[in-house]
Amino acid sequence: MNSSGQTVHVDLGSRSYDISIDAGNLPLIAELSRSWLGRSPDQPLRCFVVTDTNVLQPHANAVKMALSGAGAEVRVVCVKAGEVSKSLTEASDLYDELVDFRADRKTAVLAVGGGVVGDLAGFIAATYARGLPFVQIPTTLLAMVDSSVGGKTGVNHPKGKNLIGAFYQPAGVLIDTDTMATLPDREYRSGLAEVIKYGVIQDSDFFSYLEENISGLNERDPAVLRQVVSRCCELKAQVVKEDEHETTGVRAILNYGHTYAHAFEALSGYGALLHGEAVSIGMVCGSRLARSLGRIGDGEIQRQVELLQAVQLPVEVPEELLTKHDDILSCMLLDKKTVFGDLKFVLPDRIGHVDTIGGIDSKMIVDCLADSS
Ligand code: NAD
Ligand code: GLY
Repeated sequence: MNSSGQTVHVDLGSRSYDISIDAGNLPLIAELSRSWLGRSPDQPLRCFVVTDTNVLQPHANAVKMALSGAGAEVRVVCVKAGEVSKSLTEASDLYDELVDFRADRKTAVLAVGGGVVGDLAGFIAATYARGLPFVQIPTTLLAMVDSSVGGKTGVNHPKGKNLIGAFYQPAGVLIDTDTMATLPDREYRSGLAEVIKYGVIQDSDFFSYLEENISGLNERDPAVLRQVVSRCCELKAQVVKEDEHETTGVRAILNYGHTYAHAFEALSGYGALLHGEAVSIGMVCGSRLARSLGRIGDGEIQRQVELLQAVQLPVEVPEELLTKHDDILSCMLLDKKTVFGDLKFVLPDRIGHVDTIGGIDSKMIVDCLADSS
């Protein structure tokens, strides 16, 4: 803890970094960047800021003002908001901008935005000149608690999401929870699904904290937000420390609810369900599957359903998908956890702990789409 905000350390040896979390700390970006990049106040600071059309005003502009005010040379590049910008075409345009900016290995790339901007900017930082220093400034709840931490960067291929990418850790992450004031309600609630996920997979006390602070969550209370974002970052940092490159299976626990969710997102037409909304429904289906396997009882499902509903997230599979069993199973087979055609699910055995389970009967998987209790 520092005097005002909170600092979470991501412990990855030579790739370790800090996440600075507070309300209203955006103006500290120049000072923090200098510290993370190892630049003294008398050394030049050149910053290539990537943002999107919804975040440019006021947040990326505030970052630019703070950096310029501290003597940095800044170029801001704004991409179209939305998943469409996570493409090789957009990455190529950004490389052109970097060339034009005469970027070298001392030029820092700063991502100001949600997961789309973070993944795209991280990818160009990882690949331009074989690596430029990178700073994340996430502005969605999902990006604050998930995508800005852990070093997954990348763009989409027309045939698949996130197919082209690299593990590339940032030099630091600045989280100003005040930037969420402009975040649309649906996007905010979608991020809450990932927050609740951490409680189920890793921390029953945190799950209870969320249950006890529903009005604070719904009203975006600054103290609750800071506490929630900090705890999620700590929990994700623990997982990433254990399995940075997703080789041991530990990092897969972050995918609780996601095997069902990816199928729902794909089959409902991307965009109809926000990612967090699909994860919310996917966690409920995953819990039912865990119950079918005798891992949990009705009580653990009910607690999740009640918390998800209390923050106005959907918990039932959309009517039009309920009978699409074959399509859902086919989509699930594309999941990254699938090994030799065996679907694997991250399933709780209590609130606060999960395991990855394979060898589950297909009928049992699709039977959990509907509530049979
Ligand atoms: P996003 O970046 O598309 O942001 C959602 C919407 O909110 C966009 O329209 C954006 O312009 C807008 N927005 C962002 N911040 C705002 C603010 N403060 N005020 C107003 N509008 C704002 O989506 P997301 O949900 O943040 O991220 C989703 C992406 O993250 C996906 O591409 C997903 O693959 C990726 N992701 C990556 C990781 C990882 O580990 N790298 C983890 C999870 C998700
Ligand atoms: N969002 C999943 C991960 O970072 O591994």
